[in-house]
Amino acid sequence: MSALTVDGVDVDLDGRAVVREVSCAVDSGGWLAVIGPNGAGKSTLLRAVAGLLPRRGRVAVDGADTRGMPGRELARLLAFVPQSPILPPDMTVAEYVLLGRTPYLGYLGGPGRHDRLVADEAAEQLDVARFAERRLVTLSGGERQRVVLARALAQEPRLVLLDEPTSALDIGHQQQVLDLVDDLRRAQGLTVVTTLHDLTTAGQYADRLVLLDEGRVKASGPAPEVLSEALISDVYAARVRVTVDGHGRPVVTPLRDRAAAEGGPR
Ligand SMILES: Nc1ncnc2c1ncn2[C@@H]1O[C@H](COP(=O)(O)OP(=O)(O)OP(=O)(O)O)[C@@H](O)[C@H]1O
Ligand SMILES: [Mg+2]
Repeated sequence: MSALTVDGVDVDLDGRAVVREVSCAVDSGGWLAVIGPNGAGKSTLLRAVAGLLPRRGRVAVDGADTRGMPGRELARLLAFVPQSPILPPDMTVAEYVLLGRTPYLGYLGGPGRHDRLVADEAAEQLDVARFAERRLVTLSGGERQRVVLARALAQEPRLVLLDEPTSALDIGHQQQVLDLVDDLRRAQGLTVVTTLHDLTTAGQYADRLVLLDEGRVKASGPAPEVLSEALISDVYAARVRVTVDGHGRPVVTPLRDRAAAEGGPR
């Protein structure tokens, strides 16, 4: 059984067809990267899967159709990290990460010892525990992004939907965050869906890629099938060279201009 099944999903925004007939499935512990140019519908698809936008079609997590599922139940199954989260500026990092425990709290009770332990561990894993008492407004963009990821992990979901999770991170923290997500999927069977603009990174971490173009699936499969020079130049209108690293994974290198594409460095 797939951990996530997306079947024939359509999303309209303000009367515009933004996502059309998208189907994909991810196994438990799998990693799917949704790629595609600006405006292709990647964020819209993730938000629809997270239950944040009206959609047609079926979305099931661990076999359970999410339509009509109560918010608390859905939040124990999946955590969504938006591309540009809006954060309460005066909240401290510790308070914000602890919000990840909300779906587990009783209606009257506050967080208990276990909730604090889980939140502290998530903050530790994302390297933000040292900012615990700082207000969110005082953090850098990358620090904020890691705090939002810590909150998502504190939620202990079965599935994480991460929209450009590394866009504000330096190269070291990018690797640290992606490696952590990879460890969690291997150790705990966490299922991962990310959008990623960096195609080489997408191919390094995800076991399957879905390429969206104008709201539709243009290609899907393992990275070597999806990341071809022809497809990338067609969909992104980009000049790239695709080579292969020592593990057989594609490396996508942007080329400065046509002459360089034909001849190499000048
Ligand atoms: N509320 C809205 N009303 C109308 N169009 C919208 C609305 N929200 C988004 N869109 C449009 O839907 C399309 C898909 O947007 P989306 O944010 O899903 O793209 P994306 O693939 O995530 O792009 P990016 O790579 O820039 O993050 C865009 O053309 C966007 O302008
Ligand atoms: Mg987006």
